[in-house]
Parts: sequence; structure tokens; C-alpha cells
Amino acid sequence: MSEPLPDYLSQAPAVAARFAKIKERPVVLEIDHLGRQFAGEHGPVVALRDISFKVHRRELVCVIGPSGCGKSTLIRIIAGLDEPTSGRMLVDGKETSGPCPERGMVFQGYTLFPWLTVKKNVMFGLKMQGMADDQADQEARQWIDLVGLGRFADAYPAQLSGGMKQRTAIARALAANPRVLLMDEPFGALDAQTRAQMQSHLLEIWRNVDVTILFITHDLDEAIFLADRILVLKAHPGEVQEVIEVPVPRPRQLTQLNSPEFLATRRRLEELIHPRVEAHAQERLPIIRLTQVGDDVE
Ligand SMILES: Nc1ncnc2c1ncn2[C@@H]1O[C@H](COP(=O)(O)OP(=O)(O)OP(=O)(O)O)[C@@H](O)[C@H]1O
Ligand SMILES: [Mg+2]
Repeated sequence: MSEPLPDYLSQAPAVAARFAKIKERPVVLEIDHLGRQFAGEHGPVVALRDISFKVHRRELVCVIGPSGCGKSTLIRIIAGLDEPTSGRMLVDGKETSGPCPERGMVFQGYTLFPWLTVKKNVMFGLKMQGMADDQADQEARQWIDLVGLGRFADAYPAQLSGGMKQRTAIARALAANPRVLLMDEPFGALDAQTRAQMQSHLLEIWRNVDVTILFITHDLDEAIFLADRILVLKAHPGEVQEVIEVPVPRPRQLTQLNSPEFLATRRRLEELIHPRVEAHAQERLPIIRLTQVGDDVE
């Protein structure tokens, strides 16, 4: 018999101490009673309702929830690519809206300019901000080194693997010196092994850079592995179900995937995200017969 799992709410002293420290840090991002409605074919669609949360400096918060719960809508609003229909957003205590370099974004799809090299892609935003060529070149190199692509500075996106493209996208976003890095399923298109490497890599980058991260995923293990806290959304309408303080100590390692704290958190996330779908599926799924009665199965 395996040991019963601990309560996901119980924290070892080192973990509790880390959260106490995080909560003492200033709030970088505050979402205050935010809502977003869309005009749907059959009337208004409430994509987000009354979302409120705060993210502290250098915290890594993951947002998780079923498809259609409004994750992308939320991060697009925070990036300034969409407007809320109610509520407000504050960065460093100041109400704000619209796009701004203080909020950098990394998308799931590869969004590099294919006609520019890795270095030129990273330099692009810096030059747009008016930085001189020489300085932009130097800064871009530092970020490219940080994401481990030093040898590929002059390669074009088509010559890179998916993971390398996303590392370039991260370097490009960080080069603009954002207060908050927004990531919408950035590793969703990668194979499992590259994805696991990118998760460790992101944590390593984050340890070295003063940046706050809001990371969207629908992968439970990814959320637990990366996050300080996990914001669990539910769908229709998109609302906050629970905010979980991940009890898994840092630094994170892949060996922790089977630790009692990790498994307890996973079980809680499964309870929150999957239960009604399973009950519903069992009741409603039609029985599909793939063979004719009397077919020979030998
Ligand atoms: N531009 C739009 N017009 C109308 N409805 C929209 C629009 N954008 C999103 N929605 C609706 O808002 C809801 C939330 O969508 P959103 O893309 O934010 O979900 P998501 O959680 O990111 O889903 P996924 O996990 O599939 O990426 C969905 O019901 C979607 O159909
Ligand atoms: Mg989405």
C-alpha cells in the first residue's frame, strides 16, 4: 500500500517561509474585478467574470483551466491586446491599459520574423525603442547568451528547432526589459522532451532575471513544476475557482514530479478541473459499435 498523500495545503517550513517573503514584496500586477463579454451568435458570451488577483515582484504565477475558460482572453487583456468590459488592471500600483513594453508577451505559435536572424529578431524591439545599433547589438547578444543560443545568433528561424525558436522569443521579450513576462502556452507546440527541457530552462532564466511571470498552460504538471501559485479558472463563465500555493520546494527538479507534495497538488488540480467532465461523459456518451454483431473477433 502506498502512503496516503499529504494535504496540498500543508507546507514545509522552507516553503511557508518563501511564501511569507513573496507576500512582503511589492505587487507588480493587480487585476481588479475584471470582466470581458463578447457578442456571440446566440447572445453575449461571458468569457471572464469578476477576476481579481495580485502578483508579487519576481513571482511566477501559472493560470490553468479547461479550454474556453478565458485564459487567452485574460492574458491578451493584460498584454493590452484586448480591452476588458469591466474592472481594471494596475501595474506597479498604476491603472493602465493598452500595449506597453513593461508587459512582454510570448505566444504559443512561433512569432519570429522569418527574414531576420536570431540576433536581429532580438534587436528589433530595442531599435524600435530608439536604441542605437551598437548598443542594441550588445544587449541582444547578452540575452541570446542567457537563453543559451550564443552559437545561433546569426541563424534564421527556419534553421532552428521549435525549442530554440521559443528561446529566441523569450530573449526578444526579455530584451525589452518588461516588468511582467506574459506567456500563453509557450511550450504547447513542443514535443514532450523539449517541453520538459524548456520548463527547466525557463526557471533557470527566471532565477537570473528580475522579472515577474504570468504563464498560461493547460498542462497540470507544467503548472506545478513552474509556479509559485496556480490560479485555477473554471469555464462558462471564466471565474477564479481557487488560487493554490504550490507546496513543492525550490529549486525544482524533474525528480520532484513524483514527490508527495507534487502528487497532492496534482490530485487537487484534477478534482478542480476534471470532475464534472467525467461524470457528464459517462452519462451522455453514446455507445458506438465499431463491429457488426456476429463479427468474428479471432
Ligand atoms: N473575439 C472573440 N469573439 C467572441 N468570442 C470570443 C472571442 N475570443 C474569445 N471568445 C470566447 O471567450 C471564451 C474564452 O476564450 P479563450 O480563447 O480566452 O479561452 P482559453 O481558455 O484560452 O481556451 P484554450 O484553452 O482553448 O486556449 C470562449 O468561449 C471563446 O469562444
Ligand atoms: Mg487559449
